[in-house]
This record gives sequence, C-alpha cells and structure tokens, in this order.
Amino acid sequence: MKPLLTGESQYPFEFPDEALAAVRTFESWGGRNFADHKRDNPQLFNAYELSWGSVSDPPIAHGVEARLLTVDAASGTTTLMLRLPPGWTYTETAEDAAVELFIAEGDLTVNGERAGAGGFVAVPKDCGPAELSSEGGAQVFLWWSPEWPSDYYYESKVYVTNVVSEPWIVTEMPDVTHGIMHKALRVPDPCEGVFHGGPAGSIRLILITPGFGEPKQERHHNCYEEMIFLSGDFFMPERGYMGPGTVFSNPPDLKHGGLVTQRGSLMLAHWASPISAVFEDFPAGPEITQHYLNTRSYIEPAWTEQWLEMTEYQAWRELVALKG
Ligand SMILES: [Fe+2]
Repeated sequence: MKPLLTGESQYPFEFPDEALAAVRTFESWGGRNFADHKRDNPQLFNAYELSWGSVSDPPIAHGVEARLLTVDAASGTTTLMLRLPPGWTYTETAEDAAVELFIAEGDLTVNGERAGAGGFVAVPKDCGPAELSSEGGAQVFLWWSPEWPSDYYYESKVYVTNVVSEPWIVTEMPDVTHGIMHKALRVPDPCEGVFHGGPAGSIRLILITPGFGEPKQERHHNCYEEMIFLSGDFFMPERGYMGPGTVFSNPPDLKHGGLVTQRGSLMLAHWASPISAVFEDFPAGPEITQHYLNTRSYIEPAWTEQWLEMTEYQAWRELVALKG
C-alpha cells in the first residue's frame, strides 16, 4: 500500500499498487462527460437548467416547449422533456414510433382517462390513435422509439398507470444491507436471470436506498442506459454528483461507478435493449465509497458543480495521473 499523495496529503485514502494498473474506459472519452445529447457519448447535465425550445421531431412536440435530453442519430430514438400548455390537445397515431410519457407535474388525459403527477402513459407503435389532452398543463418526460417490436409490450394497447399503483420489486442482494428496488413502467419487464427487460429494453422507476454503496464499476454489454434523477443524491467518483434533474447516460460497454448515495436516490431508468451487468474492481472503490458515506452532508443540496471540488473526485484524478 502507498499513500495516494505524499507529504501533506488531503486525501484520506490508501490504494493498493495493483489498482493503479486498472483499465479505465472513461478515459477514451478524454475523461469527459458531455452535454451534446448524443447517445454514443457519455452524457451528464441537468435537464432543468436547459432552456426550452422547439424540436422538429417527434410530431407530438410540435408547437410545444421542448428540451432535448438524448437522441440516437441512427434510429432517431429520442428522450425529451415537454411542457404542455393548459388546454393542450393532440391525437397520437403512433404510426412512426412508440410514445411513452411520465408525468412529472400537472395532468394528462388519455382516451378519457385522467392521470396526474407520477402517471405513466404508453402508446405502442401502430396501436394508436390515442386522444391526449391536458386541462391545466403538464411537464412530462417523453421516450420516442421508432424501433419497436410488435406484439410484445403493453398487450399492444394504449396503457395508463401511476407509479403509486405499481408494486416495488426488490433486487435480491443477500450480502448487501442497503438495497435497490424498482417499479416496472414499460411492461412486461422480466427481471430474472442474466438479462432484464424485453427486446426493446425497459423503463423503470428505481429507488436506491440511503447508504447504498457499490465500490465496483459496472458495464452493460451492448446496452445503452440513461437515468433521469428525480430526488436525492448519487455519486460516481469519475463522472459526477447527481441530483434532481440530472441526466446521466452510458454508451454500451462504458464502465461506470462505483455507485454511492447518502440520502437515497430516485430515478427514471431507460435501457434500450435487454440489460446485463458485469462488475469489475475500481481503484480505491471501497475507500472512496466509505469516505463519501462518512462525510457527505445530509443537509446540502446535490449540485453537479460541487463534484470538481470533492475529495473523491480529486482522488480519482490523482489515480489517473499515477496510472499514467
Ligand atoms: Fe449502469
């Protein structure tokens, strides 16, 4: 073992020498997060800080204030945030893509069925039309998916639910005290075995409980993943500090983690294909994770900008330099 820094080290960690030889895929992007919304780059930005604008696709966004979150240039698959004005009406034919909406605020009526905050609405591709309207206005997250398997999701019908009606499904982790649970929104959503989710992946509301710390890194083979954080705090030493509004995405096979939260974290997760996870050691993962849990305030809000001053990030930068 050797101290990370000699002399007046500000880092209370020590690292095994062999950890410094670990391969770091994040460096192939220059150790950078992006805010260019492209799914083949690792994204990290705050959706709530984006200005509202207009987009040419999908049609449901025409004439509505929109924020582009992520887009896959090849397939056109897009994640957006929309602000629907009071009195908005729209007929969704779903001829070109599946449309799935999470109501973050306000109200949305679908074929006469009214949903409020926490509502989730799906119009599978070729299963429209759906008459959509909002009486008082709404802010929604929208997943628009041109590549869509027929006859798999939502029994090929328009689907409306609310997260409070759905059961929490606990991820079995016998050796872990602080766990993970989720509610399946894009259904069916198989969660047994190596691969989770259907042929076009999953959308889940995920709760990671306070005190959860995974010192290893994970990657998802052949599977794009994105998270929209709704509440709490979440930290990855080499990526950033995630709080309400953070959009975080990983191209297939990008290592990410360790993963740690002090106060718990609620997020919407989207995977674009069946997901599996492989875990690998992260340099000083246990020490960094434990330091976060021992020092992170229960009071201060989560800000991505704080990451650059955080001891754990500085330690990671130093590790990269030492690996040199
Ligand atoms: Fe992941």
